[in-house]
Amino acid sequence: MRIDVISIFPEYFAPLDVSLMGKARAKGILDVRLHQLREWAHDVHKTVDDTPYGGGPGMVMKPEIWGAAIDDVIGEGSPRLVVPTPSGRPFTQAVALEYAAEPWLLFAPARYEGIDSRVMIEYGSRLRLDEVSIGDYVLAGGEAAVLVMIEAVARLLPGVLGNAVSAVDDSFAPGAMENLLEGPVFTKPPVWRGHEVPEVLLSGHHGKIARWRRDEALRRTLLKRPELIERGELSAADLKAIASFRADGDPVAD
Ligand code: ADE
Repeated sequence: MRIDVISIFPEYFAPLDVSLMGKARAKGILDVRLHQLREWAHDVHKTVDDTPYGGGPGMVMKPEIWGAAIDDVIGEGSPRLVVPTPSGRPFTQAVALEYAAEPWLLFAPARYEGIDSRVMIEYGSRLRLDEVSIGDYVLAGGEAAVLVMIEAVARLLPGVLGNAVSAVDDSFAPGAMENLLEGPVFTKPPVWRGHEVPEVLLSGHHGKIARWRRDEALRRTLLKRPELIERGELSAADLKAIASFRADGDPVAD
């Protein structure tokens, strides 16, 4: 997959050299190209922003500079253009999966009060454009959001996670885990500071372990993210598990 990022802080993306993403790049699975937006600014100060029409605080990024940068980076091609903004649609695991199926993504993170909106109108008509938010809070710029999205997407690319590891059991993974949080995990020793590993995990009984994991995912989701649970998608065994948490007086939501 090719990923281009145009930013006034390309150095912000140094973490892409590390760990899973560093390896994916070394293996050629991920081809990340960073571009300094100021290279498309031609005045002495390499100015990329200006005061907002209509007044108000902060600065807005200039459309000509973004336009020239995007045109040069895409050439004749047509990547999916992703603009991070707190006013975008929510970035979820489903969106990460959608992006992982694309051959080419172009990220355009803004600083200041954002990019002149005509840039989104222009490229929204020429490319598939998404304005995306990584959560209901405001960052100082879109760069951290781009790092988050690249990591979520890159780990889904074939060959990035080790063979033994799979994304299908992740929280939110489509399928059985779609609306569930993953439950707790344990490793050796079996007793640590008096805390025991749940016995079923030591039993070697795969069916019982799978059921236990599912029950714990349900329990955790009901406790921490009750809005995720959609009854229609739960099996009879799931509903029975939920009823028994309630009967046991577990602090779960109705
Ligand atoms: N830029 C600033 N805040 C953001 C957010 N929450 N998501 C995406 N981009 C942003």
